[in-house]
Amino acid sequence: MSDLDSLKTSLLADIAAAGDEAAIEAVRLTALGKKGSVSELLKTLGGMSAEERQTRGAAINALKTEVSEAISARKADLRDAAITARLEAEKLDVSLPVRSSPSERGRIHPISQIVDEITAIFADMGFSIAEGPDIETDYYNFTALNFPEGHPAREMHDTFFLAPDANGERKVLRTHTSPVQVRTMEAQDPPIRIVIPGKTYRQDSDATHSPMFHQVEGLVIDKTSNVGHLRWVLEEFCKTFFEVDSVTMRFRPSFFPFTEPSFEVDIQCDRSGPIVKFGEGSDWMEILGCGMVHPNVLRAGGLDPDEYQGFAWGMGLDRIAMLKYGMPDLRDFFNADVRWTTHYGFRPLDMPTLFGGLSA
Ligand code: DAH
Repeated sequence: MSDLDSLKTSLLADIAAAGDEAAIEAVRLTALGKKGSVSELLKTLGGMSAEERQTRGAAINALKTEVSEAISARKADLRDAAITARLEAEKLDVSLPVRSSPSERGRIHPISQIVDEITAIFADMGFSIAEGPDIETDYYNFTALNFPEGHPAREMHDTFFLAPDANGERKVLRTHTSPVQVRTMEAQDPPIRIVIPGKTYRQDSDATHSPMFHQVEGLVIDKTSNVGHLRWVLEEFCKTFFEVDSVTMRFRPSFFPFTEPSFEVDIQCDRSGPIVKFGEGSDWMEILGCGMVHPNVLRAGGLDPDEYQGFAWGMGLDRIAMLKYGMPDLRDFFNADVRWTTHYGFRPLDMPTLFGGLSA
């Protein structure tokens, strides 16, 4: 066997034995690389006589062609085999059940849900959302709301007082969302139509009271709003919120320093079963306080009571959440127990809307 034949046999054997793309590349370099066995032979062509070039030269060229074709063919086979193996390995069984995503498993806390529901209802009536600080001055929490100095109503609020600051000013954790009424009057001109959801704080703790709780406040200021409008807004709200066709409400005279006249509102319901039903029954349940904004509060907000008037209301968010969704103990709201949130929580993508349903 000539030297060229034995080189060819050995190279073709190496090519056939190469098991992957890296191995075939290594064979290519030993044969056709700069210092490869075939390349070395090709270099000898320059020193050959004309006859030698015709016989041995042609044989070397033929060897080169055969080896490079064999390498290309083997490369293509190996690439196909690699693709087939990869397809095999990455095969997806689309009929397998999918593990639920975090957005499927996570739950919206009932308080957030209620805030979203209330926002949807009042946004539809043309209200916007207002907010204020949790740490409030005594002025906004009490004085601007017409609580006289030393008035017992200040004590009734079981206020958390902060230590006095360098100026001797003693801030409070706001005891209600009402301070945002005055802050809003100072910041924007009438007409004002706002709802104020937020955290509130009082020293109180049992199954229906928590030291941190939530309220939602409403405020309407313009030149003509009256108790009839107040009544309509609250009735519309209760019907939509409790998802019933009609509600019967009872306005009882009451007292709040920041409204005159003031009312407490009861809603007719059926409390005979394990859950309270609205729109039927012969029981009453108190759900909120309201009234016409007191002239002193309008003045504190920089408005002239001879020109402007309006109404306000405030209610406990946690309480109406408990009523609507039948949760028995308020303390569970803030225990961060995932079993409770899984049971009472709401699916994140089910946003409450008036057209799609509030809690559907
Ligand atoms: N701020 C009152 C409270 O926490 C609730 C309230 C009553 C708010 C009457 C109002 C209102 O705006 O008009 O007890």
